[in-house]
Amino acid sequence: MRQHVNPLSRFFQLPLELPGPDQLFDTANRPIHLDIGCARGVCLLELSAMKPDWNHLGVEIRRPLVLAAQRDRDELERHNLHYLFCNANISLEAWLAELTEDQLQLVSIQFPDPWFKRRHRKRRVMQPSLLLAIAAALSPSRELFLQSDVLEVVEPMVALVELSGCFDRPDEDTRPWRTNNPLQVPTERERYVQEQGLPAYRVLYRRNEQPLPELEALEIVWQRVDNPADVPLNH
Ligand SMILES: C[S@@+](CC[C@H](N)C(=O)[O-])C[C@H]1O[C@@H](n2cnc3c(N)ncnc32)[C@H](O)[C@@H]1O
Repeated sequence: MRQHVNPLSRFFQLPLELPGPDQLFDTANRPIHLDIGCARGVCLLELSAMKPDWNHLGVEIRRPLVLAAQRDRDELERHNLHYLFCNANISLEAWLAELTEDQLQLVSIQFPDPWFKRRHRKRRVMQPSLLLAIAAALSPSRELFLQSDVLEVVEPMVALVELSGCFDRPDEDTRPWRTNNPLQVPTERERYVQEQGLPAYRVLYRRNEQPLPELEALEIVWQRVDNPADVPLNH
């Protein structure tokens, strides 16, 4: 299977209407954990057993992984768990906007694809509009967890979250990186990283009371930080 797909290719730009919680889970009004880029979904499979009073949704752009993960879920009859195929940057925002207040309680983005090259930065999953859609759906104190083994990947994510002003880190967490994974279950990539003795850079954020910035304003400040060469002089 291909390691990376290009989320900007035409096929992945087609918006999909994602089913709401009442079509995904047997009890729709439980708290939801959303894992973006869940791959084969082993982390959520385990978490859904550990936390049966939560609903768990994994979204993933590689359809064969989603089909395999859904098969596991069906065999185990795990009705608080679902996996959906989609491009998170295209189809997730509308789904998030439809949630009832305080339904979404945790979002994780774990070891996202490392698009290093400057010209590939638009392929990264953490973009201003997705971040604002997540922030809009999370009530104060609800959590966003990020981790990666690649500093060049996690640092821009952290910079964007901090620029938004919508999230704070728990006072007790070590800086610059949290030492452990608050989810307690490692992902596929995390297991590999641990086996290889590689570092994992982790940050837990909590939604604060600040209102969302305007998307355009966030994009402008974000461009100044992430890609200063492309910012027009009058901005
Ligand atoms: C490096 S893998 C990590 C998978 C898993 N989170 C882990 O830690 O093992 C990143 C995953 O994100 C998925 N992905 C990348 N861009 C995406 C997007 N725009 N929407 C949904 N999934 C995406 C990739 O297909 C891949 O499975």
